[in-house]
Amino acid sequence: MIWETAIAMWHNSRTTFDGEHQMTATIKPLHPHIGGEVSDIDLREPLSAEDVAILEAGMDKYAVLVFHGQNITDAQQTAFSRNFGELELPGSISNITKAEDRRLGPEMADVSNIAKGGKLFGRDDRARMFNLGNRLWHSDSSYKAVPAKYSLLSGRIVTEEGGETQFADMRAAYDALDDKTKALIEDMVCEHSLLYSRGSLGFDDLTEEEKRNFTPVRQSLTRTHPISGRKSIYLSAHIGQILGLPRPEAMCLIRDLTEAATQREYVYSHKWQQYDLVIWDNRQTMHRVTAFNDVDEIRDMRRTTVAGDVPTAEQVAA
Ligand code: OGA
Ligand code: MN
Repeated sequence: MIWETAIAMWHNSRTTFDGEHQMTATIKPLHPHIGGEVSDIDLREPLSAEDVAILEAGMDKYAVLVFHGQNITDAQQTAFSRNFGELELPGSISNITKAEDRRLGPEMADVSNIAKGGKLFGRDDRARMFNLGNRLWHSDSSYKAVPAKYSLLSGRIVTEEGGETQFADMRAAYDALDDKTKALIEDMVCEHSLLYSRGSLGFDDLTEEEKRNFTPVRQSLTRTHPISGRKSIYLSAHIGQILGLPRPEAMCLIRDLTEAATQREYVYSHKWQQYDLVIWDNRQTMHRVTAFNDVDEIRDMRRTTVAGDVPTAEQVAA
Protein backbone atom coordinates (compact mmCIF):
# COMPACT_ATOMS: atom_id res chain seq x y z
CA MET A 1 0.00 0.00 0.00
CA ILE A 2 1.31 3.44 -0.84
CA TRP A 3 2.19 5.60 2.13
CA GLU A 4 -0.30 8.43 1.33
CA THR A 5 -3.17 5.95 1.14
CA ALA A 6 -2.20 4.44 4.46
CA ILE A 7 -2.12 7.88 6.10
CA ALA A 8 -5.47 8.84 4.55
CA MET A 9 -7.02 5.62 5.81
CA TRP A 10 -5.60 6.18 9.27
CA HIS A 11 -7.08 9.70 9.34
CA ASN A 12 -10.37 8.30 8.16
CA SER A 13 -10.69 5.53 10.71
CA ARG A 14 -11.07 5.01 14.40
CA THR A 15 -10.58 2.08 16.71
CA THR A 16 -13.65 0.89 18.58
CA PHE A 17 -13.40 -0.38 22.15
CA ASP A 18 -13.10 -4.00 21.03
CA GLY A 19 -10.15 -3.15 18.86
CA GLU A 20 -12.07 -3.53 15.60
CA HIS A 21 -10.99 -1.12 12.89
CA GLN A 22 -13.97 0.74 11.42
CA MET A 23 -14.24 3.37 8.69
CA THR A 24 -16.34 6.47 9.11
CA ALA A 25 -18.73 7.51 6.35
CA THR A 26 -17.44 9.67 3.49
CA ILE A 27 -19.50 11.76 1.06
CA LYS A 28 -18.69 12.92 -2.45
CA PRO A 29 -20.81 15.37 -4.49
CA LEU A 30 -22.93 14.02 -7.37
CA HIS A 31 -24.04 17.32 -8.90
CA PRO A 32 -23.11 21.04 -8.76
CA HIS A 33 -26.08 21.89 -6.48
CA ILE A 34 -27.68 18.82 -5.01
CA GLY A 35 -26.89 15.23 -4.04
CA GLY A 36 -23.99 13.39 -2.44
CA GLU A 37 -22.90 9.76 -2.59
CA VAL A 38 -22.07 8.08 0.71
CA SER A 39 -19.44 5.36 1.07
CA ASP A 40 -17.95 3.34 3.93
CA ILE A 41 -21.18 2.64 5.78
CA ASP A 42 -23.35 -0.43 6.42
CA LEU A 43 -26.99 0.45 7.06
CA ARG A 44 -27.73 -3.00 8.51
CA GLU A 45 -25.68 -2.12 11.60
CA PRO A 46 -26.37 0.51 14.27
CA LEU A 47 -24.56 3.74 13.38
CA SER A 48 -21.97 5.46 15.53
CA ALA A 49 -22.84 8.96 16.77
CA GLU A 50 -20.02 10.17 14.52
CA ASP A 51 -21.61 8.65 11.40
CA VAL A 52 -25.04 10.08 12.29
CA ALA A 53 -23.45 13.53 12.62
CA ILE A 54 -21.67 13.12 9.25
CA LEU A 55 -24.93 12.13 7.55
CA GLU A 56 -26.93 14.96 9.13
CA ALA A 57 -24.33 17.52 8.08
CA GLY A 58 -24.33 15.88 4.64
CA MET A 59 -28.12 16.25 4.39
CA ASP A 60 -27.93 19.91 5.41
CA LYS A 61 -25.40 20.49 2.65
CA TYR A 62 -26.43 18.17 -0.22
CA ALA A 63 -30.20 17.74 0.57
CA VAL A 64 -30.07 14.28 -1.10
CA LEU A 65 -27.78 11.38 -0.14
CA VAL A 66 -27.33 8.18 -2.13
CA PHE A 67 -26.13 4.87 -0.65
CA HIS A 68 -25.33 1.86 -2.86
CA GLY A 69 -25.41 -1.84 -2.03
CA GLN A 70 -27.65 -1.68 1.04
CA ASN A 71 -29.61 -4.92 1.10
CA ILE A 72 -31.68 -4.10 4.18
CA THR A 73 -34.84 -5.45 5.79
CA ASP A 74 -37.81 -3.24 6.67
CA ALA A 75 -36.76 -3.42 10.34
CA GLN A 76 -33.22 -2.27 9.47
CA GLN A 77 -34.60 0.56 7.35
CA THR A 78 -36.84 1.71 10.21
CA ALA A 79 -34.01 1.53 12.74
CA PHE A 80 -31.68 3.50 10.45
CA SER A 81 -34.40 6.13 9.79
CA ARG A 82 -34.94 6.69 13.53
CA ASN A 83 -31.42 8.15 13.76
CA PHE A 84 -32.89 11.31 12.22
CA GLY A 85 -36.05 11.71 14.30
CA GLU A 86 -39.47 10.22 14.93
CA LEU A 87 -41.13 8.40 12.08
CA GLU A 88 -44.22 9.63 10.32
CA LEU A 89 -46.77 6.85 9.85
CA PRO A 90 -48.44 6.59 6.45
CA GLY A 91 -52.08 6.19 7.47
CA SER A 92 -55.40 7.11 5.86
CA ILE A 93 -54.32 10.77 5.73
CA SER A 94 -51.73 9.82 3.08
CA ASN A 95 -53.34 7.12 0.99
CA ILE A 96 -56.51 5.39 -0.18
CA THR A 97 -55.21 1.90 0.67
CA LYS A 98 -57.21 0.40 3.53
CA ALA A 99 -55.31 -0.96 6.54
CA GLU A 100 -56.31 -4.55 5.69
CA ASP A 101 -55.01 -4.18 2.12
CA ARG A 102 -51.57 -2.95 3.13
CA ARG A 103 -48.63 -5.11 2.02
CA LEU A 104 -46.09 -3.65 4.45
CA GLY A 105 -45.92 -2.80 8.16
CA PRO A 106 -47.36 0.42 9.62
CA GLU A 107 -44.08 2.37 9.39
CA MET A 108 -43.50 1.65 5.71
CA ALA A 109 -44.95 3.70 2.86
CA ASP A 110 -45.47 1.26 -0.01
CA VAL A 111 -44.29 3.02 -3.16
CA SER A 112 -44.34 -0.17 -5.23
CA ASN A 113 -46.74 -1.14 -8.00
CA ILE A 114 -47.79 -4.43 -6.39
CA ALA A 115 -50.70 -5.37 -4.14
CA LYS A 116 -50.66 -7.36 -0.89
CA GLY A 117 -50.39 -10.79 -2.56
CA GLY A 118 -47.50 -9.60 -4.73
CA LYS A 119 -49.48 -9.16 -7.97
CA LEU A 120 -49.05 -6.08 -10.15
CA PHE A 121 -51.83 -3.50 -9.98
CA GLY A 122 -54.15 -3.64 -12.98
CA ARG A 123 -54.24 -0.66 -15.30
CA ASP A 124 -57.53 0.65 -13.78
CA ASP A 125 -56.74 -0.19 -10.18
CA ARG A 126 -57.51 2.81 -7.94
CA ALA A 127 -54.24 2.28 -6.05
CA ARG A 128 -52.29 2.47 -9.31
CA MET A 129 -54.09 5.59 -10.45
CA PHE A 130 -53.57 7.22 -7.06
CA ASN A 131 -49.84 6.34 -7.06
CA LEU A 132 -49.41 7.89 -10.52
CA GLY A 133 -49.47 11.18 -8.57
CA ASN A 134 -45.78 10.49 -7.78
CA ARG A 135 -45.01 11.36 -11.41
CA LEU A 136 -45.69 15.02 -10.49
CA TRP A 137 -43.04 17.18 -8.81
CA HIS A 138 -43.86 17.17 -5.10
CA SER A 139 -42.60 17.34 -1.56
CA ASP A 140 -43.71 14.45 0.68
CA SER A 141 -46.51 15.10 3.17
CA SER A 142 -46.81 18.76 2.23
CA TYR A 143 -50.54 18.04 2.68
CA LYS A 144 -49.98 17.52 6.42
CA ALA A 145 -50.09 20.44 8.88
CA VAL A 146 -46.62 19.41 10.07
CA PRO A 147 -44.93 18.21 6.87
CA ALA A 148 -42.16 15.61 6.64
CA LYS A 149 -38.47 16.22 7.27
CA TYR A 150 -36.67 13.37 5.46
CA SER A 151 -37.85 10.54 3.23
CA LEU A 152 -35.75 7.38 2.88
CA LEU A 153 -36.46 5.24 -0.17
CA SER A 154 -35.06 1.74 -0.56
CA GLY A 155 -34.97 0.10 -3.99
CA ARG A 156 -35.69 -3.60 -3.42
CA ILE A 157 -36.66 -4.38 -7.02
CA VAL A 158 -35.76 -1.70 -9.55
CA THR A 159 -36.56 -1.23 -13.21
CA GLU A 160 -34.23 -1.61 -16.17
CA GLU A 161 -35.73 1.32 -18.06
CA GLY A 162 -37.34 4.49 -16.66
CA GLY A 163 -38.49 4.72 -13.04
CA GLU A 164 -35.73 7.17 -12.17
CA THR A 165 -36.29 9.45 -9.20
CA GLN A 166 -35.51 13.07 -9.93
CA PHE A 167 -34.70 15.67 -7.29
CA ALA A 168 -34.90 19.43 -7.76
CA ASP A 169 -33.00 21.83 -5.50
CA MET A 170 -35.48 24.37 -4.13
CA ARG A 171 -32.61 26.39 -2.53
CA ALA A 172 -30.76 26.94 -5.78
CA ALA A 173 -34.13 27.67 -7.43
CA TYR A 174 -34.93 30.27 -4.77
CA ASP A 175 -31.51 31.90 -5.10
CA ALA A 176 -32.06 32.28 -8.84
CA LEU A 177 -35.37 34.18 -8.50
CA ASP A 178 -35.25 37.90 -9.21
CA ASP A 179 -35.77 40.27 -6.28
CA LYS A 180 -39.28 41.20 -7.38
CA THR A 181 -40.42 37.58 -7.34
CA LYS A 182 -38.68 36.94 -4.01
CA ALA A 183 -40.58 39.89 -2.51
CA LEU A 184 -43.86 38.78 -4.12
CA ILE A 185 -43.80 35.26 -2.67
CA GLU A 186 -42.12 36.07 0.67
CA ASP A 187 -45.31 35.98 2.79
CA MET A 188 -47.58 33.93 0.56
CA VAL A 189 -49.42 30.98 2.05
CA CYS A 190 -50.68 28.05 -0.04
CA GLU A 191 -53.25 25.32 0.45
CA HIS A 192 -51.99 21.77 -0.10
CA SER A 193 -54.07 18.61 -0.49
CA LEU A 194 -53.94 15.21 -2.16
CA LEU A 195 -57.27 16.25 -3.72
CA TYR A 196 -55.39 18.87 -5.74
CA SER A 197 -52.45 16.73 -6.94
CA ARG A 198 -54.69 13.77 -7.85
CA GLY A 199 -57.36 16.05 -9.25
CA SER A 200 -54.83 17.66 -11.58
CA LEU A 201 -54.31 14.22 -13.20
CA GLY A 202 -58.05 13.72 -13.49
CA PHE A 203 -58.30 11.27 -10.60
CA ASP A 204 -61.21 12.28 -8.38
CA ASP A 205 -62.87 8.93 -7.74
CA LEU A 206 -62.80 9.34 -3.95
CA THR A 207 -65.22 8.45 -1.16
CA GLU A 208 -66.57 11.10 1.22
CA GLU A 209 -64.29 9.70 3.93
CA GLU A 210 -61.23 9.97 1.70
CA LYS A 211 -62.14 13.54 0.81
CA ARG A 212 -62.38 14.37 4.51
CA ASN A 213 -58.97 12.76 5.13
CA PHE A 214 -57.51 14.96 2.40
CA THR A 215 -58.76 18.29 3.82
CA PRO A 216 -56.34 21.02 2.64
CA VAL A 217 -53.68 22.42 5.00
CA ARG A 218 -51.72 25.65 4.83
CA GLN A 219 -48.01 25.98 4.06
CA SER A 220 -45.93 29.06 3.50
CA LEU A 221 -44.48 29.38 0.00
CA THR A 222 -40.96 30.10 1.22
CA ARG A 223 -39.09 28.45 4.06
CA THR A 224 -35.72 28.71 5.74
CA HIS A 225 -33.57 25.73 6.65
CA PRO A 226 -33.11 25.62 10.46
CA ILE A 227 -29.36 24.84 10.30
CA SER A 228 -27.96 26.31 7.08
CA GLY A 229 -30.30 29.33 7.06
CA ARG A 230 -30.77 28.86 3.30
CA LYS A 231 -34.15 29.79 1.86
CA SER A 232 -36.18 27.56 -0.45
CA ILE A 233 -39.35 27.80 -2.45
CA TYR A 234 -41.78 25.38 -0.83
CA LEU A 235 -43.52 23.98 -3.90
CA SER A 236 -45.47 20.78 -4.41
CA ALA A 237 -48.03 19.29 -6.80
CA HIS A 238 -50.34 19.22 -3.77
CA ILE A 239 -50.78 23.01 -3.99
CA GLY A 240 -54.25 24.08 -5.17
CA GLN A 241 -54.53 27.65 -3.96
CA ILE A 242 -52.63 30.70 -2.69
CA LEU A 243 -54.56 32.57 0.01
CA GLY A 244 -55.97 35.88 -1.17
CA LEU A 245 -55.63 35.25 -4.92
CA PRO A 246 -58.20 34.06 -7.47
CA ARG A 247 -57.40 30.37 -8.03
CA PRO A 248 -56.40 30.58 -11.71
CA GLU A 249 -54.02 33.44 -10.92
CA ALA A 250 -52.56 31.48 -8.00
CA MET A 251 -52.10 28.36 -10.12
CA CYS A 252 -50.46 30.31 -12.95
CA LEU A 253 -47.89 31.63 -10.47
CA ILE A 254 -47.35 28.14 -9.00
CA ARG A 255 -46.83 26.75 -12.52
CA ASP A 256 -44.33 29.48 -13.38
CA LEU A 257 -42.39 28.89 -10.16
CA THR A 258 -42.44 25.10 -10.64
CA GLU A 259 -41.22 25.42 -14.20
CA ALA A 260 -38.39 27.73 -13.14
CA ALA A 261 -37.45 25.57 -10.15
CA THR A 262 -37.27 22.29 -12.03
CA GLN A 263 -34.99 23.38 -14.85
CA ARG A 264 -32.28 20.87 -15.71
CA GLU A 265 -29.51 22.67 -13.88
CA TYR A 266 -31.27 22.23 -10.51
CA VAL A 267 -32.13 18.56 -11.03
CA TYR A 268 -30.27 15.41 -10.05
CA SER A 269 -31.77 12.33 -11.67
CA HIS A 270 -31.19 9.06 -9.85
CA LYS A 271 -30.95 5.90 -11.92
CA TRP A 272 -31.63 3.09 -9.47
CA GLN A 273 -29.46 0.04 -8.89
CA GLN A 274 -30.94 -2.73 -6.75
CA TYR A 275 -30.40 -2.07 -3.00
CA ASP A 276 -29.74 1.64 -3.38
CA LEU A 277 -31.14 3.76 -0.59
CA VAL A 278 -31.76 7.46 -1.15
CA ILE A 279 -32.56 10.04 1.55
CA TRP A 280 -33.94 13.45 0.70
CA ASP A 281 -34.84 16.54 2.70
CA ASN A 282 -38.43 17.48 1.84
CA ARG A 283 -37.88 20.95 3.28
CA GLN A 284 -35.47 21.89 0.49
CA THR A 285 -36.26 19.65 -2.47
CA MET A 286 -39.02 18.38 -4.73
CA HIS A 287 -38.94 14.97 -6.38
CA ARG A 288 -40.85 12.85 -8.88
CA VAL A 289 -40.58 9.44 -10.52
CA THR A 290 -40.18 9.21 -14.29
CA ALA A 291 -42.37 6.97 -16.44
CA PHE A 292 -41.78 3.22 -16.66
CA ASN A 293 -43.80 0.22 -17.72
CA ASP A 294 -45.60 -0.06 -14.40
CA VAL A 295 -48.36 -2.34 -15.70
CA ASP A 296 -45.94 -5.16 -16.61
CA GLU A 297 -42.78 -4.64 -14.59
CA ILE A 298 -42.48 -4.91 -10.80
CA ARG A 299 -40.81 -1.99 -9.04
CA ASP A 300 -40.64 -2.61 -5.30
CA MET A 301 -39.72 0.61 -3.52
CA ARG A 302 -40.25 1.08 0.20
CA ARG A 303 -40.18 4.39 2.01
CA THR A 304 -39.77 5.43 5.60
CA THR A 305 -40.45 9.03 6.52
CA VAL A 306 -38.97 11.15 9.29
CA ALA A 307 -41.55 13.54 10.72
CA GLY A 308 -41.00 17.28 10.73
CA ASP A 309 -41.25 19.25 13.94
CA VAL A 310 -42.89 22.55 12.99
CA PRO A 311 -45.78 23.74 10.84
CA THR A 312 -44.78 26.33 8.20
CA ALA A 313 -48.00 28.33 8.55
CA GLU A 314 -50.90 28.85 10.92
CA GLN A 315 -53.82 26.50 10.24
CA VAL A 316 -57.48 27.42 10.25
CA ALA A 317 -59.51 25.94 13.08
CA ALA A 318 -61.46 22.91 11.77
C1 OGA B 1 -41.81 8.74 -2.69
C2 OGA B 1 -41.87 8.99 -4.14
C3 OGA B 1 -40.77 8.30 -6.15
C4 OGA B 1 -40.28 7.03 -6.73
O1 OGA B 1 -41.37 7.64 -2.29
O2 OGA B 1 -42.19 9.63 -1.92
O3 OGA B 1 -42.38 9.99 -4.56
O4 OGA B 1 -39.27 7.07 -7.43
N1 OGA B 1 -41.26 8.07 -4.87
O5 OGA B 1 -40.89 6.00 -6.48
MN1 MN C 1 -42.86 11.34 -2.84
